[in-house]
Amino acid sequence: MSRRKIQVILVLACVALVALLSVQLVWLNKAYNAQERAFNHSVQVALTQVSDQLLSKAQKPVTSARPVQQVASNFFVAELNAPVDPTEASKLLQQEFAKRQLQERYEFGLYNSLDDTLMFGQYIAAPQKSVVGGKAPVIRHEQVGAVPVYNLAVVFPGKTSFILKEMEFWWYSTGAVLLVVLFFGYTMIQILREKRLSELKTDFINNLTHELQTPITNIGLASEVLRKRAETLPADRLSRYHDLIHSENERLRAQVERVLQMATMESRELVLRKETVDLHALLQQTGQNLTPRLQQRAGQLRLDLQATHTLIHADGLHVANALYSLLDNAEKYSPQAPEIEVSTRDVEQGILISIRDKGIGIKQEFQKFLFDKFYRVPTGNVHNVKGFGLGLSYVKAIMEAHHGHVSVESAEQQGTCFRLVLPVN
Ligand SMILES: Nc1ncnc2c1ncn2[C@@H]1O[C@H](COP(=O)(O)OP(=O)(O)OP(=O)(O)O)[C@@H](O)[C@H]1O
Ligand SMILES: [Mg+2]
Repeated sequence: MSRRKIQVILVLACVALVALLSVQLVWLNKAYNAQERAFNHSVQVALTQVSDQLLSKAQKPVTSARPVQQVASNFFVAELNAPVDPTEASKLLQQEFAKRQLQERYEFGLYNSLDDTLMFGQYIAAPQKSVVGGKAPVIRHEQVGAVPVYNLAVVFPGKTSFILKEMEFWWYSTGAVLLVVLFFGYTMIQILREKRLSELKTDFINNLTHELQTPITNIGLASEVLRKRAETLPADRLSRYHDLIHSENERLRAQVERVLQMATMESRELVLRKETVDLHALLQQTGQNLTPRLQQRAGQLRLDLQATHTLIHADGLHVANALYSLLDNAEKYSPQAPEIEVSTRDVEQGILISIRDKGIGIKQEFQKFLFDKFYRVPTGNVHNVKGFGLGLSYVKAIMEAHHGHVSVESAEQQGTCFRLVLPVN
């Protein structure tokens, strides 16, 4: 899939998801409003019924009552202006609410209609809760003399959560929509990952073809010369051609081997032949292998091996390859005479090996990709340092196979330090 196509798909997908989420939100809102209206309506009807009955008990004309008012979202008042028996009011409220399935806790109060003071208040728990009847009522002494007249007020402190609970179906459907969104996001991330890997692989194949072509061409030319003019060539030139063929062939072999090694790791056929290995000896040996290249560039390698526990249970060959890969990078990515320092130290988890160079360094933003297979820090179109982007992914795989760990610290133009931690025997 082309980059453009993926971008279009991504944008369309995001638009679709946003639209889906918005529709869901609009419906949630509508559903909430409808539930709330239904709740308010039931309360109003119930309170009207209660008022009518209380008024007829107080022998007042029912028509004298003002309609039930909703003062706030969860606060309802019925102006009775009549003497009312609190017990009777409480009983009627419970009855009427039960009839309408209003199974929610509430507080009701009787207010003196003349000065609006609270004369009686009671908390009633939701019927399904175990605390029947709720808290003890608040009773205030009434003025002696005049016959008190009351208004009835009811508050539902948990109205919002009650309505939200009633919207059970909507929560399931919202959950389903969110699942779709999550699944979609996951799929998109996977596609982008695959896309990146395929780009890296394409780069790798171009790179590989190029790298293989050079020795093949050189070998071809040299053997052509030998075939046509071997008899007439002086001995020293003859031997130069032989050496060239030999070294180019070595280069080819090494390259093919590295690719094969990676392919083996990919198919998880990595078989480790573990034995007890002295890590310091391994480091010294690997360092020596690099010496000829360092001498050519007037570079130096300093070993500062301070760890005291150096025996590890490991496949010496693979660990040496991994160490070499890091030294190889330290040398390759140092444009001036390479200065490499290898140090070891005892740490809680085993032994810590640091490989530090003063080379080109790696920008922070690229560091998290370093251990990905085929990854090379982008340098525009020209890579003047050759490589396949396999070394560090191999290092990581080998470290993990040995229950170890690799990390990097680097600053651009200042140098890089790779740290390995391996468990010791
Ligand atoms: N010491 C270092 N200093 C600066 N950049 C580094 C260093 N080591 C690795 N890198 C960056 O990380 C990339 C990945 O390194 P890795 O060893 O995996 O691949 P490579 O060296 O490009 O190729 P290969 O090791 O397969 O021959 C390199 O291309 C380079 O950009
Ligand atoms: Mg490398």
